[in-house]
Amino acid sequence: MLKFPAPFPAAVFVCTNKRPDGSPKPCCADRGGVELREELKQMSKDQGLETRVKIFASGCLGGCEQGVVAVSYPSGTLMLGVKREDLQKILDEAVG
Ligand code: FES
Repeated sequence: MLKFPAPFPAAVFVCTNKRPDGSPKPCCADRGGVELREELKQMSKDQGLETRVKIFASGCLGGCEQGVVAVSYPSGTLMLGVKREDLQKILDEAVG
């Protein structure tokens, strides 16, 4: 294993997990997780923040009932019920 410092100081992971149709458990993909992640990524690019924060898609973050779920590092903040109107604040807080 090779280890080295990540080339970005902050990261936001947005759950885009998709469960099979008919699953009894909800998933963030069905609540707009894919689209929110894409929009957050585009906002980061448009604001020239790509070297300061990376926007990743993630698998299930364990808050499915309250999705869309996201987590931000290095603060380690878990966010539930993320909506489009929250994205700018998430970005602002991620870059400090
Ligand atoms: S499916 Fe998104 S937190 Fe579980």
